[in-house]
Amino acid sequence: MSARHWLSLLALALGTHLVGHSDTLDNALQVCATCHGPGGVSVQPKTPHLNGQLPAFFVEAMQAFAKGNRPTAVAEHKTFAADQYASAAKFYAEQRNMVRSKSNTDPAMVLKGEKIYLNRCQDCHLDDGRDSDKDAPLIAAQELEFLVAQTLAFKTGARKFPFLMDDAYRGLSDDELASAAHYFAAQPQIAPAPTGKRKRGK
Ligand code: HEC
Ligand code: HEC
Repeated sequence: MSARHWLSLLALALGTHLVGHSDTLDNALQVCATCHGPGGVSVQPKTPHLNGQLPAFFVEAMQAFAKGNRPTAVAEHKTFAADQYASAAKFYAEQRNMVRSKSNTDPAMVLKGEKIYLNRCQDCHLDDGRDSDKDAPLIAAQELEFLVAQTLAFKTGARKFPFLMDDAYRGLSDDELASAAHYFAAQPQIAPAPTGKRKRGK
């Protein structure tokens, strides 16, 4: 059975819909699907969802893996063909409506994280992480353990701070940063209907 049929069957079984894929791309993405799921909805712990991610960020992440500018233990991140980055990015971005499973966030951490989000993170990670400025990735409803690890990775220096994000981190403890990760992971993937209540900013 071809990769495409296999993926279509799996998508059917999951009650989901894969859109806009070609056979060539399916073959290339088969290995990615073992961890990130066929449509980018992660099927492994500590593994990020890729569905709905901004294509520009996806391509930058792949380039950073390939150049060794961003650490990864996954060999396939470095060997994936560079001429497939753009079409892979487009494919995953198009799966934005595929439903992610919810991470088990800690309500107390989420509450603490909300304050940090509003004061420190929302300038770039807009709309609770569902929107973006300054090339920030979308991180609402992202997998919790991945988010905690990556949030701390900037503080330890494992990942290089993008422009101005170091300012946002200044003085925050590991626990406070982890709580921001819990906040992002707890956010709905799709914006809830407006209630008329407005959040206070800085
Ligand atoms: C063995 C499991 C595994 C495979 C196979 C795999 N990934 Fe990953 N991927 C991960 C994990 C775990 C992370 C987070 C940790 C890291 O960066 O290594 C990640 C991170 C990423 C990120 C960064 C996402 C973000 O929000 O920062 C991208 C992009 C990505 N993978 C794309 C791919 C693509 C494309 C393929 C196929 C060529 C692939 N991955 C194959 C496990 C995997
Ligand atoms: C000035 C803009 C800006 C601010 C403020 C900011 N970020 Fe970011 N953030 C970015 C950009 C740009 C990236 C992409 C960096 C990269 O991959 O090189 C990023 C990436 C991330 C990632 C990695 C996600 C992934 O999928 O790989 C996490 C986690 C994160 N930010 C958390 C935070 C937290 C928590 C705060 C607040 C304490 C914050 N950011 C404040 C711009 C910002």
